[in-house]
Amino acid sequence: MRKPLIAGNWKLHKTINEAKDLAKTLCTKLADVHNTDIVLAPSFTAISAVAEICQESTIKVGGQNCFPEPQGAFTGEVSAAQLNDAGCTYVILGHSERRQLFGEDDAFINAKIHAVLRAGMSAILCVGETLEQREQGDLFEVLGAQVRNGLKDVNDTQMEHVVIAYEPIWAIGTGKTASSDDAAEVHAYIRGLLQGVFSPAVAQNTRIIYGGSVKPDNISELMAQADIDGALVGGASLNAADFAAIANFPRPLHMADTHR
Ligand code: PGA
Repeated sequence: MRKPLIAGNWKLHKTINEAKDLAKTLCTKLADVHNTDIVLAPSFTAISAVAEICQESTIKVGGQNCFPEPQGAFTGEVSAAQLNDAGCTYVILGHSERRQLFGEDDAFINAKIHAVLRAGMSAILCVGETLEQREQGDLFEVLGAQVRNGLKDVNDTQMEHVVIAYEPIWAIGTGKTASSDDAAEVHAYIRGLLQGVFSPAVAQNTRIIYGGSVKPDNISELMAQADIDGALVGGASLNAADFAAIANFPRPLHMADTHR
């Protein structure tokens, strides 16, 4: 049984004090949520402060990116071990903003995945298509390449520490969510793809979460889909009430509650 995961990607928002306030409010509001993994991904500057606040809670902290090399002359970069040292146990990798604005390709993202796994953390690998790719009928080819190349040389055991986030680029920050049927179709495709690369158990156990304009009013419908195991939330994660409502989504029937 896959434990749902709801992650908040704070992107380039919030000072240290603002981040601490949001983390404190969420620790209070979500104190009773034990059946869902909750991850907050602040800016690098606020990671330690947020991690300290979340220490006594079940909320985990994630980085939004990292560099594959452990150390060296890489001005402006942060290593996986440094993120772990600051309190992270998850790192978001290959977000479409990194791919589109900073030119990250699958090979670079794959190197980061290995760095995160070596540092003993979990990786959230983001994949997703542009509207143009979807309209041209290239959806599955694009996603297939992103998943296969992003996970190159990752073994079955390491896959326990990998989460895949399907984030259609046209749905990010636009208010347009993929319909739950469209999202479900893609999630099922990705699970099938994993089965071709890894063992059936890995395909069954890997969490595939959805991202792109997730809000309190669409989370239930998304989570009702059998292959949607959680959400990567951008805009709505900056608001405590909205993120708490998303993390407290009503549990659909197919999720037998083994984690309460
Ligand atoms: P959004 O962002 O929820 O604001 O669409 C999601 C993401 O970029 O991870």
